[in-house]
Amino acid sequence: MKILVTGGAGYIGSHTCVELLNGGHEVIVVDNLSNSSKESLNRVVQITGKRLDFYNVDIRNAYAMNKIFAENKIDWVIHFAGLKAVGESCAKPVEYYDNNLGGTLVLLQAMRAHGCKRIVFSSSATVYGDPEVLPLTEECKTGGTTNPYGTSKYFQEIMLGDVYKADNEWSVVLLRYFNPVGAHESGLIGEDPKGIPNNLTPYIAKVAIGELKEIGVFGNDYPTPDGTGVRDYIHVVDLAKGHVAAIEKIADSGVYTYNLGTGIGCSVLDVVHAFEKACGRQLPYVIKPRRAGDIAACYADASKAERELGWHAELGIDEMCASLWRWQQMNPEGYNKK
Ligand code: NAD
Ligand code: UD1
Repeated sequence: MKILVTGGAGYIGSHTCVELLNGGHEVIVVDNLSNSSKESLNRVVQITGKRLDFYNVDIRNAYAMNKIFAENKIDWVIHFAGLKAVGESCAKPVEYYDNNLGGTLVLLQAMRAHGCKRIVFSSSATVYGDPEVLPLTEECKTGGTTNPYGTSKYFQEIMLGDVYKADNEWSVVLLRYFNPVGAHESGLIGEDPKGIPNNLTPYIAKVAIGELKEIGVFGNDYPTPDGTGVRDYIHVVDLAKGHVAAIEKIADSGVYTYNLGTGIGCSVLDVVHAFEKACGRQLPYVIKPRRAGDIAACYADASKAERELGWHAELGIDEMCASLWRWQQMNPEGYNKK
C-alpha cells in the first residue's frame, strides 16, 4: 500500500517508516523538520535499503497538501505531525492548538478532497488524565487533560470521531501510546531531543554519557511499590509495528481505538537500574520533589490490540535501555554530528 506519513522524520515516525518499508509498503513523508532532521530519513533508507519520497512541507499548507494528494494515490495516512512538549504547550497554547488542531484540519480537508478516507492518528495515554482505575482500558473515561498538548490530543480524537459520524466510509484508528522509549537496534535512528531532555530515558542516557551530572528522581513518596512514579514504557520499534498491524488488519470503515503499551508498569528506579545494566555502571541519582502535573502510575491494558490487530509488544525494559544506550553512544550529538 502507499502510505503518507506526516511527521515521518520524527522519532516515532522514522521508526514507523522502517517497519512500513520492511513490510513492503511505499512511503511518502511530509515533515516541516521543525523538530527533526532530514538525516533521520537518510538513515531509514540506509537501514532498509529502500527508497521513500520526502516533502519538506508544513501540513497547514493547504495548497502543498492538496498537491501531494493529487500527485499520489494514497491508501492510508499515518498522522504523527504535531508538537509534543507538555511544558512548552502551557507557555505557548496558541502555537500548540494552531499546529496540532490546525494541521489536522488542513490534512482532513485535503484527504476528503481527494477521497482518501483512512487515517491512523498518534494519540496518547494522556487523554485518560489521572487514571481512576489501572490498568487503563480503551473504555476508560477520557478528557480532564491538564495541559494544551494533552487537550489537543483529546480534541483531535473528537474531531476524527465526528468526521466518521458525518461520513461512514472513513476508517479512523486512534492509537493511544503509553511511554515510547528506546531506539532502532542498528543504533542509526533514535530520539534526538533539543536541549536538556524533559523525559526520563533521554535524561538518563545523557547522564550515562557524562553530559549531565545526575538523574533527578521526581518524588519517592507516591503510592507505588518503591514510591517513585510508575509508567508503561514501550519500545519504539514495537510501537512502530503497531501502526503496520493497524493498516494491514483494518479493512472496514469505523472508529477503532487501541492502547499501545506493554501492560507492565516500571518505576523510575526500575528504569534507572535497567539502564545501569545496559551501560555497565552505576548511575548517580538524587531524589527531588514531585514534578507538577505528574501522576503516580499509568499503565495499559493492551489486550484489545492483541485480540483485534494480532499485535503485542515483544521487547522489555532491558532491550529499551540497551537500544537507547547504543543510539546515544553512536550519536552523542544526535543527528547533527559535524
Ligand atoms: P517528534 O517531534 O519527533 O515528531 C513529530 C514530527 O512532526 C517532527 O518531525 C516535526 O518536525 C513534525 N511536525 C510538527 N509539526 C509539523 C507540521 N505542522 N507540519 C509538518 N511536520 C510537522 O515526535 P514523536 O515523539 O515522534 O511523536 C510523534 C507523534 O506521536 C506526535 O503527534 C506526538 O504527540 C505523539 N505522541 C508521542 C509520544 C512520545 O512520547 N514521543 C507519546 C504519545 C503521543
Ligand atoms: C510525559 C508527558 C506525556 C507525554 C510523555 C511522552 C507530562 C506530565 N506528561 O509523560 O504527556 O505523552 O511524556 O512524551 O509531562 N521523571 C523523573 N526524572 C526526570 C524525568 C522524569 O523522575 O528527569 C519521572 C516522572 O516523574 C515520571 C517518569 O519519570 O514518573 C516518566 O516521566 P516522562 O518520561 O517525562 O514521561 P511522563 O511524565 O509519563
